Amino acid sequence: MTDPRLRAQDLTLAYDKRVVAEKLDVGIADGSFTVIVGPNACGKSTLLKALARVLKPQAGAVWLDGQAIASYPSKQVAKQLGMLPQSPIVPGGIVVEELVARGRFAHQRLLRQWSPEDEDAVTEAMRLTEVSDLADRFVDELSGGQRQRVWLAMALAQQTPILLLDEPTTFLDLSHQFEVLDLCAELHEQGRTIVAVLHDLNHACRYATELIVMKAGEVVAQGPPAEVMTAQRVEDVFAMPCRVIDDPETGTPMVVPADRHRRRGVRTPEAARA
Ligand SMILES: Nc1ncnc2c1ncn2[C@@H]1O[C@H](COP(=O)(O)OP(=O)(O)O)[C@@H](O)[C@H]1O
Ligand SMILES: [Mg+2]
Repeated sequence: MTDPRLRAQDLTLAYDKRVVAEKLDVGIADGSFTVIVGPNACGKSTLLKALARVLKPQAGAVWLDGQAIASYPSKQVAKQLGMLPQSPIVPGGIVVEELVARGRFAHQRLLRQWSPEDEDAVTEAMRLTEVSDLADRFVDELSGGQRQRVWLAMALAQQTPILLLDEPTTFLDLSHQFEVLDLCAELHEQGRTIVAVLHDLNHACRYATELIVMKAGEVVAQGPPAEVMTAQRVEDVFAMPCRVIDDPETGTPMVVPADRHRRRGVRTPEAARA
């Protein structure tokens, strides 16, 4: 099998002396909709940042098309790979359309600054994320959910074959969560490679072609949801006793957390005796 376009090899990821992961190897299957799941602080965002070249590994390397990602000019990386960070910092005094337009920086050349293709990409990204009506609003005056969709629009405007999305559904109400996931699924069907961090395991199982399960800086499982998402694994990784049944709507694995008393029973001897 040939190497995937994007992969991480032998990574050590750290913030100064705080080591988050060591000897981490991850391949992102080409054309996959990969979803990364794992408990808080296990290193999901850190891995995504390394894959997007936002965080420099202390050891090891991220490879894009067989070449160390660190060796590319930044515009060349930005044409291949777009990233939605978990908590982007909102620049003050900027309106929605301007922010989305920033997604086009990699496509701008020195002399021809703003092209009809740039305009089209921005309009289309705003349409897909349903923020067209917000075009003239200040980003820092939007609700969390509106803002989340604006950031997504910016990443989409970049029109990259690979999209890395860190918790793209946080702040969104249920129908907007599914709209964003459906949009990702459509982009995936059109041939993009999607990597998303999600917290909802059932959403992950519905949408992922490939799951990456992380715990304490390690990848503990990788594969299709039906193989990876077992009750034992959920308990091992999330310390959450549960059942895994077939989602009645999609047939994908569905995690049903154990009743409060049963969960207590697993953890405390008193409850187990009761
Ligand atoms: N900028 C940072 N500086 C120092 N430590 C950080 C920073 N960002 C994250 N960490 C730490 O790295 C670990 C992994 O964080 P993160 O990758 O954000 O976890 P996740 O996305 O899985 O919740 C956590 O212990 C977190 O506190
Ligand atoms: Mg995170």
